[in-house]
Amino acid sequence: MDGNVCPLDKIYELAQKYDAMVMVDESHSAGVVGQTGRGTTERFNLRGKIEILTGTLGKAFGGAVGGFTTGKREIIEMLRQRSRPYLFSNSIPPAIAAAGIKMVEMMSATNELQDRLHANTAYFIKKMVEAGFDCKPSESAICAVMLYDAPLSQKFAARLQEEGIYVTGFYYPVVPKGQARIRVQVSAAHKQEHLDKCIEAFTKVGKELGILK
Ligand SMILES: Cc1ncc(COP(=O)(O)O)c(C=O)c1O
Repeated sequence: MDGNVCPLDKIYELAQKYDAMVMVDESHSAGVVGQTGRGTTERFNLRGKIEILTGTLGKAFGGAVGGFTTGKREIIEMLRQRSRPYLFSNSIPPAIAAAGIKMVEMMSATNELQDRLHANTAYFIKKMVEAGFDCKPSESAICAVMLYDAPLSQKFAARLQEEGIYVTGFYYPVVPKGQARIRVQVSAAHKQEHLDKCIEAFTKVGKELGILK
């Protein structure tokens, strides 16, 4: 919701100290966080050290269903024997599995999409702050534009949709009370003109609803 990243380095240190295993859900970070988009483990230089990683085949993977677990060989072998999806005859659609594999291939062939995503996110937040909006600092593709008021976040998002910008307002209980915001998800597919159009629409509606002077 904030685009922030957990302190995985400290969590890892504690796990080492107490002989515990760590599991990280990389659903929001796979393909996005870290210079090459390998997720939170890359961001903290911990690739290969975390016992269990899970993720979705949606979000950056672009699929519509399903997810994955990866990690230490012994754990994956045990999951192949014990986890429920392996007990039934249906699995995720092969096309989704193929799309997931293709996504990893695309990420590995060049860093172009990841670089563009990071540049787009930094550009969007910088320009929104310059325009007068209160945006949380982000380490992902999520930009939280803070409005603090639940009805206002709904009204703002509805007006933006009328302006051709598809964003969602979030309020309690999805975020803490008094922390209502509009969550903008930037993509590598956005060109600068798209981002500028979005900032323009935010500015227009912001003035209209008395957020900006
Ligand atoms: C932290 C986290 N994990 C997993 C998921 C599940 O992802 P999906 O709905 O793509 O299966 C979500 C969905 O938003 C999520 O926020």
